[in-house]
Amino acid sequence: MKNKIKIGLIGLGTVGSGVFKTLKNFDNIEIAKIAVKNINKPRNIEGLDNSLLTDNPCEIVKNPDIDIVVELIGGLEPAFDLIAEALKNGKHIVTANKELLAKRGEEIFAIAEKYNKVILYEAAIAGGIPIIMPVKTILAGNKINHIEAIVNGTTNYILTKMDVESAQYADVLKEAQKLGYAEADPTGDVEGFDAAYKIATLASITFNKRIKIENVYREGITKIRAEDMKSANDLGYKIKLIASAHLNNNGEADVRVHPMLVSKKSTLAHIDYVTNAVSLSGHPVGSITLSGPGAGEFPTASSVVGDILAIAAELNTSDYILPMMRCRHSEDAVMVNIEDTINKYYISINAHNNKGVIGKIGTICANHDISLASIVQRCVSDDNTADITVITELVKEENMRNAIKLIEADGNKVNSLIRVQV
Ligand code: HSE
Repeated sequence: MKNKIKIGLIGLGTVGSGVFKTLKNFDNIEIAKIAVKNINKPRNIEGLDNSLLTDNPCEIVKNPDIDIVVELIGGLEPAFDLIAEALKNGKHIVTANKELLAKRGEEIFAIAEKYNKVILYEAAIAGGIPIIMPVKTILAGNKINHIEAIVNGTTNYILTKMDVESAQYADVLKEAQKLGYAEADPTGDVEGFDAAYKIATLASITFNKRIKIENVYREGITKIRAEDMKSANDLGYKIKLIASAHLNNNGEADVRVHPMLVSKKSTLAHIDYVTNAVSLSGHPVGSITLSGPGAGEFPTASSVVGDILAIAAELNTSDYILPMMRCRHSEDAVMVNIEDTINKYYISINAHNNKGVIGKIGTICANHDISLASIVQRCVSDDNTADITVITELVKEENMRNAIKLIEADGNKVNSLIRVQV
């Protein structure tokens, strides 16, 4: 009988238990050891043999019987050291660790290549949506130069709730935390860090150039107001946290995460709650969108198990397995600075009800080469101020920022400045 492929699992949280339960259906795979923080913690996982558990992950990364190490603990340390040690000990790696890939990918892929091992990470970006393997294999014949994606379920859930319930951010966040959709410390999600890790890695493999995480422009959703949601809706848009990456004709990359008004006619406007979606445009494929669950026990396990099976199928068949799945880029991308990018903007201004206010805003914009696509003032409030909503045509970010400074210096309050999908 053929020997089973032996797996060492590091982490048995939500994703780890989904992987454990799913792998039970594959009789060519054996889970040889599982590293957990606390062996004595009660776990309700059917078929789990407690003798597999250890609180010493070295029993996995140095174990000569183990072929594939599956890292599901997240974060930089000890994940980096454990993966590096496992590679040095001849293990292939499957990981869902987006932060590690974005911050230290260059180092771990160099170690993997040195020891002729592979690192697969389908689960790290958009959970259950297959995106890494498609980009690296079946889409490899394309020159993809544009990505727009919703890759964070927590923020998409919050924005969807704000939209459908006309609710404020802080109230929806509280409710999402109560229901377990947002973490007690939501910073990683709501400030866009999680999405930035994902788009940095996705853009690197799509453009075949390394995108450094510190060069990804990032804004979160904490300043989005229910009033912005309503105005956006009235103007034919939804507000989404969009992770985008664009490669211009000079080969320079513009990679960012920020809220965006997306046209109700676009696919991404209809991706709601915790669902994720990735739209890619390139030649010859044109535009495609993949959507599905971006997190959760079984969707994420689907990607992890797919990676395990891809490695398992090739183990012992070749001296150099899965060549198309390896890290193929060595060069850092030349990046476009956000101030030099060209965007459309939604601006919400609270102005005193004085004569000529709209005229002055128009003049400041004109002086900064900003053409207005629309300007709306509905009514004057009891405090004798008015909310003015502006949508601009395409303008350089630097000009927009300078104009905003002058609009504010003129005694107005700029409540929101949100980029609009082009
Ligand atoms: N925190 C992520 C999200 C899931 O809210 O989508 C894991 O990447």
